[in-house]
Amino acid sequence: MIAVRRLTPAALVGALVGAAALTGCSDSGSGSGDARAELSVSAAYMPQPVSDSMAAGFLTITNKGGSKDDLTSVTSDVGQVTVHETVDSSMTEVKSLDVPAHGRLEFKSGGNHLMFENLKRKPEQGDTVSLKLHFTKSDPVTVEMPVKSATYNPKTGH
Ligand code: CU
Repeated sequence: MIAVRRLTPAALVGALVGAAALTGCSDSGSGSGDARAELSVSAAYMPQPVSDSMAAGFLTITNKGGSKDDLTSVTSDVGQVTVHETVDSSMTEVKSLDVPAHGRLEFKSGGNHLMFENLKRKPEQGDTVSLKLHFTKSDPVTVEMPVKSATYNPKTGH
């Protein structure tokens, strides 16, 4: 028997944040212009979808580095993922989105969102959906996205 150690989503995010911090601390204070993006992901969640074929996902990508990066694609084993932004309450698929230096790219209800289509299974509250974010410069970042209730509000946590 091989023991499989299951990581909680929080532990995975913690590990990712730790790894990102390690890569960036080599020249603290030197100002030598180590202008790399240092990305971390937080606040990921998927409201339990009402549709059998489609779901939305939200998260925040924080860049502590001195260089911008671009989110270019998202992949997941649960289905096909596209990146959408919402302009004047209609949504458009975009090829990439900026993650500004010393800034963040936010996906939230009513704004940018990840769109999951052609679902192979219907995510239920309590499940975790695994996805991978791909960037122009940075290595891909794996995210374990918890599925919350259909009406989940990240501000209140309900
Ligand atoms: Cu959409």
